[in-house]
Formats: sequence, structure tokens, C-alpha cells
Amino acid sequence: MKKLIAANWKMFKTWNDGVQTARELMVATRQNLPADREVLLIPPFTLLKGVGEVFLGEENYSLGAQNFYPAGEGAYTGEISPVQLKDLGCSYALAGHSERRHILGESDEFVGEKVQFGLEKGLNIILCVGEQIEERKKGQVEEVLHRQLAKGLAGVEKDIQPHRLAIAYEPVWAIGTGEVAGPEEIVQAHTFIRNDLAQYVNFYEEIRILYGGSVKPDNAGQILALDNVDGVLVGGASLKAESFSQIVLAE
Ligand code: 13P
Repeated sequence: MKKLIAANWKMFKTWNDGVQTARELMVATRQNLPADREVLLIPPFTLLKGVGEVFLGEENYSLGAQNFYPAGEGAYTGEISPVQLKDLGCSYALAGHSERRHILGESDEFVGEKVQFGLEKGLNIILCVGEQIEERKKGQVEEVLHRQLAKGLAGVEKDIQPHRLAIAYEPVWAIGTGEVAGPEEIVQAHTFIRNDLAQYVNFYEEIRILYGGSVKPDNAGQILALDNVDGVLVGGASLKAESFSQIVLAE
């Protein structure tokens, strides 16, 4: 499976800036995209159409959504359904990003509902997991990861095809802080996730496990080379085409 290099733009960018960045990114990477890479852009909802016009139809470039509500349609003011996302060309969506868990109050159970529903509606899901600093200090990293995986994947079919699901390990203390997890911490967490996945899905060896948390052009190559690291999920450094293209092409 190709390494997935994903940009999470979070709540940044208005139309002109977003479309321009997507265009610049395409120009900077299209010709020399390594054969083992897939690029995923996850803009805010307001830019799905604009970025889609640049990305859709390009092999190895895909469009994703940061969030969705687990219903096909209905009276859910302010929410967006997987059906509407697919209609705009989204093939991926995030579930359980730490900012949604900790700022918007999403529970493990609700995240699990979303994972199941999004998959059923045909989106490929990236389930985000990761511990907070207090949990790491108390030695609870594996406990937290296990709980988030068990509840997040509770409704997933055991024989799910591996390209339909990815896990992003994003230690909360490394998000937006400039403090990247060390290689040993990353490998330990990813290896734990890989082994834990065996309980829920048959093709656990092929499910991609991405790392996220202060990934930058100068550390991306090293992180991507680690055992059980099958991609990266990038926040801040994905907002500029120049830095994100360096991550996409990082050796
Ligand atoms: P940063 O790359 O800004 O640390 O954000 C990581 C992240 O949350 C990606 O989803």
C-alpha cells in the first residue's frame, strides 16, 4: 500500500488562498511524486469544492473531510452527512481527531458510531487516536490507545479491506506544539496499534498507521522511514504549498 501523506487544514483558509495553495501543491509535486506515495488534502468544508476542482481526477491525489455526522440526511442543523461529502468527491474522512474529542466533546462511543456509519456510506475512514500528556506521564499510553481503538472500531466488519481504514496516531502533546514525538515513542505506539488492530480486523498488517504531531519538512523523511509508519497527517506545515510539498516528496 502507498504511504499516505495527508494535509489537515483544520479551520484555516478562505477560498482564494485555499484554491491557490492546492494549485501550487499540484505543480510542485505532480511530476515527481514518488511511486509509493498518495496525497490527501483535507480542507475545511467550504473549500471541498475548490480543492476538488484541482485534485479530483488526478491519480494518487484525493480529497477528504475533517468531520461528518453519522446520518444520511435529516434535521441536524449545521451538520454534514457522508452522502453529501461523497457527492463533492470526498473519498476519505477523519474521525476522532483530538480537537473534536477535547474541544467539541466527542466521546469514544460517538467516534465509533461515525467510523461505522462513514464506512457503510462508502468513505474511507482515518480514525485518529492519541494520548494527552498527563496520560503519558502516568504510563497510560497503551491503555488509552487500546480504549480508543476498541470503541472506535467496535462496529467495523472484521473483513474490511485495508484501503478503507487507516489509523492516525497523534499524541495530543505533539499537536501544534513543535514538540514532535521521538522515533522510539512513535515506533512503540505504532507497533502497539498494529498488534491491537489484530483483534478487530483481519487485514491488520496492511492497515496504514499514520503519525501526526508537528511533522515538518525537516523531520518527515526520518518519520516516514520508521517501522510501522505508513504515512503522516500534517497540520501547520500543510498550510503552505512549499512546506507541504517538501513533506510529500521527503526521502
Ligand atoms: P500539527 O502538524 O500542526 O502539529 O497538527 C497535527 C494534526 O493535528 C493533524 O491532524
